[in-house]
Amino acid sequence: MNRLSIESSLKKFTAKFAESAAMTREAREVIPGGYSRNSFNFGPHAVFVEQGDGAHIETVDGHRLLDLNNNFTVNVLGHGHPAITRALIDTIPSGISFGNPGPPEADLARILIERIPSVEKVQFSCSATESCMSAIRIARAYTGKTKIAKLEGGYHGFSDILQISSHTQPDQDGGTDTDPKAVADSGGIPTATLDDVVVLGQNDRDGAERILRTHAGDLACLILELQSGSGGLVTLEQEFVEQLRSLTKELDIVLVFDETISLRAGYHGLQGVYGVVPDLTVMGKIIGGGMPLGAVGGSADVMDVLETGKVSISGTHHGHKLALAAGTACMRTLDHAAFEKLNSQSARVISELNEWSEARKSPLLLYGQGFSHMAYSYMKAPDLKVRNHRDYWHNVDSEKTQILSLELAIRGFFPVHRGELSLSLPMADDDISSFIETLKEIVEDLES
Ligand SMILES: Cc1ncc(COP(=O)(O)O)c(C=O)c1O
Repeated sequence: MNRLSIESSLKKFTAKFAESAAMTREAREVIPGGYSRNSFNFGPHAVFVEQGDGAHIETVDGHRLLDLNNNFTVNVLGHGHPAITRALIDTIPSGISFGNPGPPEADLARILIERIPSVEKVQFSCSATESCMSAIRIARAYTGKTKIAKLEGGYHGFSDILQISSHTQPDQDGGTDTDPKAVADSGGIPTATLDDVVVLGQNDRDGAERILRTHAGDLACLILELQSGSGGLVTLEQEFVEQLRSLTKELDIVLVFDETISLRAGYHGLQGVYGVVPDLTVMGKIIGGGMPLGAVGGSADVMDVLETGKVSISGTHHGHKLALAAGTACMRTLDHAAFEKLNSQSARVISELNEWSEARKSPLLLYGQGFSHMAYSYMKAPDLKVRNHRDYWHNVDSEKTQILSLELAIRGFFPVHRGELSLSLPMADDDISSFIETLKEIVEDLES
């Protein structure tokens, strides 16, 4: 019999994080679910945090954990990084909110333009959800077309038009592997919205060509993540991305890369690694240094619909002074050496664990493009992989993967509960070693 089961892991988890469980119950009286982010459940409830320093968090239950969640990839510099703290402290005394712009906005825009190959002009918002909405409005105004295309399993925030087919489940009417259908991921999304969304399968070259050609006359844009996150981690293949670039160019469809997570892949984002240039790029998470900030950027030609007044987008807190200060400090700290360290630690996690797993013919699989956002899954058999969203249905043992996540938290490591890791700059090689050893021990316990 396995030494670990979902029942035993859940029991240990709730006992270890008893204070968090009680706080969830109490907060539920005033906040639906107990907290404002539905995605934060870690099995039975969230883990409440008292504070963070460097690579660690301390929970209200009195436990110190290595933070491998990092606010779903936001905290690339960990917690309390002196550059960000200093920038915020220096900024506050001169006032925090004005209707007038100030110099920091163009400064951060210049940093992003210098780094991200496709970006010539930038507009800021408060979140990537908003900037994805902006990207769609810009694309619609630029092309004069209405529908959008997206990939099944791609997540682009919670707007009606985009919270569609990110988390399609086998028991939903999601069409076939090669002809996925638009499915609302939440109640409250009008069914009419589904008519405006065309869905493609990840890494399905034949399907993508057929579907894009069929709908080309109506499609304003195709939005995609080069490596998806919230809908399940899938890395797009180079040939697939190149094919989508040439098809969208030919068919007059604006190509949008949502690099909200993948900007942490390197100095030039993940598009720099692929060497493929989109028309628009959505940015978020790390660009605010832990403060709420989103951005859409792209070629001057496309972005100029904002300049000419053809498109109007305006939010009270867009380009907030504190977010710009923290974001600028974060991006300046992320130099080439910082990305090199993050990426080499990531490569080590993936290669050491996969070599170990292959040697013992275990179904444990670590995967991702190779940067500091990666996934672990316990597969249904040793040789299975994840190439698209539906492989999560067919190939991943979700209960055993959940056991790994619960046991990691119980043993001092806080991942993303669905089986993802995000590294931060303050992590020491010893932190990485103890994570690797702990995951091995958990798998040994699971397989014993
Ligand atoms: C790729 C991607 N796009 C957009 C979003 C939405 O970002 P936000 O939650 O900041 O609105 C997310 C959030 O996880 C994301 O991962």
